[in-house]
Amino acid sequence: AAAPVTPPDIAARKGGAPIVCLTAYTTPMAQIVDRHCDLVLVGDSVGMVMHGLPDTLGVTMEMMILHGKAVRRGLAHALMVIDLPFGAYEESPEQAFRNAAILMRETGAGAVKLEGGTHMAPTIRHIVQRGIPVMGHIGLTPQSVNALGGYKVRGRGAEAQAILHDAQAVAEAGAFSVVAEKIPDILARRITSDIRIPTIGIGASAACDGQILVVDDMLGMFADFKPKFVKRYANLAADAEAAVAAYAAEVRERQFPSSEHVFGETTASAKGA
Ligand code: KIV
Ligand code: NA
Repeated sequence: AAAPVTPPDIAARKGGAPIVCLTAYTTPMAQIVDRHCDLVLVGDSVGMVMHGLPDTLGVTMEMMILHGKAVRRGLAHALMVIDLPFGAYEESPEQAFRNAAILMRETGAGAVKLEGGTHMAPTIRHIVQRGIPVMGHIGLTPQSVNALGGYKVRGRGAEAQAILHDAQAVAEAGAFSVVAEKIPDILARRITSDIRIPTIGIGASAACDGQILVVDDMLGMFADFKPKFVKRYANLAADAEAAVAAYAAEVRERQFPSSEHVFGETTASAKGA
């Protein structure tokens, strides 16, 4: 097998073949994603995807560690990046490094990701200088959903310049790549050509250096959630619904289990032993 992907490998792919990324939260999904992707993100989206939380603000270090460990066991090739959850890094560069180190040590991730542009640049620099690779995240930053007033497109009109500055600040602070979320195509192109680190788009542009989606979104695990930027490559929620319905019907009709799923009589148990 090829050597595991490292943050410098990702950084070196600026302007090259698209960097393929997905999230994962469990071992079996990590194993599938690992066979096809360069980078696996243990996103704090885990709170909404796997735990039914209304947003990512309720995600804790404990949740990230638990899912990070599970994902790590499923990976042999892809770079594992893990999100710093809300409240674990905003206070100070010192707090950010302390929690980044815990995530790295406990999960075996190869890098951490944190949200924020110009205002987080000193924190990114602090962590990177101490040996932990950092992926940035600009544009729509879901941990700021309350301040932003929703999950709206960022960087339209006058805001474009600020988002460009965010991307530049993240790159200059030493991040090895940056997620650009939910910004206009033209801005994502501009950022991608302006900064020297790879941009990983989600609701951004085909011109980004790579793409990422939430794996459960692209697998169609949610019947009534489909943002414009998500393409469904499967309809697993519908498949699961049909499978559970079929099981329920067969149990009620005593069609399951049938002879192939039950155990034959043995001499020891034959006479009610
Ligand atoms: O938490 C997450 O899944 C993310 C990606 C959408 C980039 O941050
Ligand atoms: Na995230």
